[in-house]
Amino acid sequence: MSAKNGSIKLVAGNSNPALAQAIANGLDLPLTKAVVRRFADMEIFVEIQENVRGSDVFILQSTSYPANDHLMELLIITDALRRASARRITAVVPYFGYARQDRKSGSRTPISAKLVANLITHAGADRVMTLDLHAGQIQGFFDIPTDNLYASPVMVRDIRERFDLTNVMVVSPDVGGVVRARGLAKRINTPLAIIDKRRERPGESEVMNVIGDVAGYTCILIDDIVDSGGTLVNAADALIANGAKEVYAYITHGVLSGGAAARITSSRLKELVITDSIQPTEAIIKSPNIRALSIAGLISEAIARTAAEESVSSLFD
Ligand code: R5P
Repeated sequence: MSAKNGSIKLVAGNSNPALAQAIANGLDLPLTKAVVRRFADMEIFVEIQENVRGSDVFILQSTSYPANDHLMELLIITDALRRASARRITAVVPYFGYARQDRKSGSRTPISAKLVANLITHAGADRVMTLDLHAGQIQGFFDIPTDNLYASPVMVRDIRERFDLTNVMVVSPDVGGVVRARGLAKRINTPLAIIDKRRERPGESEVMNVIGDVAGYTCILIDDIVDSGGTLVNAADALIANGAKEVYAYITHGVLSGGAAARITSSRLKELVITDSIQPTEAIIKSPNIRALSIAGLISEAIARTAAEESVSSLFD
């Protein structure tokens, strides 16, 4: 692996140590010695304990729960590296939190995804690398080069190994996710269905209309985020009610807040497959129908290519 921008250094925050180590193993590099700890009042303190002058540094940190702490760690690590004369700093943020606040949802509300992009840029990042952004256009919130990687090659490999594709239908759980689901359906050459959630009258519960004939099919729901699990559980119920044989879900970011893992376990979903972009909690690991695929290899390869100034997009051809 050749680096055109000085030696490669990997600095991990506290959000996902297992993924950081797996990425380092994939690159056959050690993690740079650094201390990221709290003062008594919970202020964050960072000390990079190795020389990084002139290095091509990649910070590995998802801004997952607790989002504000992990974001602040990322910003402070970036500042420490900039002041230590790193030649180039890439913020590798496999899960970009705040992404769902990407537009004004009402009068006098913020666009927090843009604010977070500004914070990362102003802290001193030269580049950003992330995975399955909630909306592709968030890439444009950064005025620095931003690579949005896709987990789809990892998911497609798993789906091909596990399913008889002649009886599979890919399903988008809402209209907003159609482009993502269609892309995956195209890769595995299966039909596509869409769930249209609609509240007919204010105060009435949402009606799930399934667009497409799913009867007899093994349905695979595709989405970027599973948070409370509500979207998936309702979608699975609607598909079964419309005659689907069984329902699986492949979702990149397992946010799975609160009691979401238990909700998935007691749902009609056969299996939820997530990635390790967010470190799985004990409840997720113990859940009998949740499984995590690793995106470490994909990120290692993207880092190697970035360091060598090679194409990253060709990873997804
Ligand atoms: C929404 O636009 C996202 O793509 C997900 O569908 C949503 O965040 C899932 O949230 P929950 O699991 O809480 O229904």
